[in-house]
Amino acid sequence: MPKNARRNGRVAKSLAETHSIDTGGASFSVTPVAGKPAARISDLDLSKPLESPVFAALRRVLVEYPVLVFGDQDLDAMAFHDFAGGFGSLQEHVLRKYRHDDYPGLSWLTNVAPDGSVDSFGVKRATNWHSDGSYTADPPALGILHAYETPKNGAGTLFIDMRTAFDQLAPDLQSQLRNLTGLHRHGAGPGGEMYDNSLTDEQEKAQQDVRHPAVTRHPDDGADILYVNETHTHRFEDMDKADSIALVKDLMAQVVRPDAIFHHHWTPGDLLIWDERSTIHRGEGAYAPTERRIMLRAIVDRFHE
Ligand SMILES: [Fe+2]
Repeated sequence: MPKNARRNGRVAKSLAETHSIDTGGASFSVTPVAGKPAARISDLDLSKPLESPVFAALRRVLVEYPVLVFGDQDLDAMAFHDFAGGFGSLQEHVLRKYRHDDYPGLSWLTNVAPDGSVDSFGVKRATNWHSDGSYTADPPALGILHAYETPKNGAGTLFIDMRTAFDQLAPDLQSQLRNLTGLHRHGAGPGGEMYDNSLTDEQEKAQQDVRHPAVTRHPDDGADILYVNETHTHRFEDMDKADSIALVKDLMAQVVRPDAIFHHHWTPGDLLIWDERSTIHRGEGAYAPTERRIMLRAIVDRFHE
């Protein structure tokens, strides 16, 4: 997909309507969500083993629609681990207490503590805009989330395509950003206070800033990406702290527009895949904490060659 076909929120007509993709052994349908950076995928049972051409086809769809939504799925931890691992290597998440006991490459997103009480960190976690792992030197490729129990309202996940976001900034701001390097550190951005005290002392001590250009390039379509987020980006090189924070906040204010947001309202059985490189996301975090929200998440570090 040439990048100018996506710009201005338009895609080629043939791709803007429901279309079928045949991978040889299996086929599935892609239904774009009108005006949003997302598509619904149907006719695939992700709990069954899938051949590598299916993973390759899904990767191609993700270039155009960086959030893919699957409904009515039923994957236990083993099946979810197998499915996510079909894309590439899985990251063992920084928050160790949420890692799955048998599959450390999976971690729980839950507001239910092991004793059944409310885990209040699980409620507020990840409710500001971020890109998973932007605080690592080599950020991951994909996020995958599968819902088991979900509150009825207020527990959604919101996504923004940062390629479109960059395209829509004023040209002089784009030029300024092309010359900036962002410093990222876990939870150190102006929206990162929800992560206070979430790391172990040892992890906290080992924390270092990592540098990422404020404008990165998507490896698949070559599009420019605004690679800044309010949770982990806390400074720009050669800019003082106050100006840096002001710029991060200003960028977020420009990027977070209602028409740019794909808001997914979860139903048990949903599974979402998103491109970590080109999107930011956050949890809606507006549900009653006593309503159970239990999801399993995988982060694909690196695609299989
Ligand atoms: Fe996240």
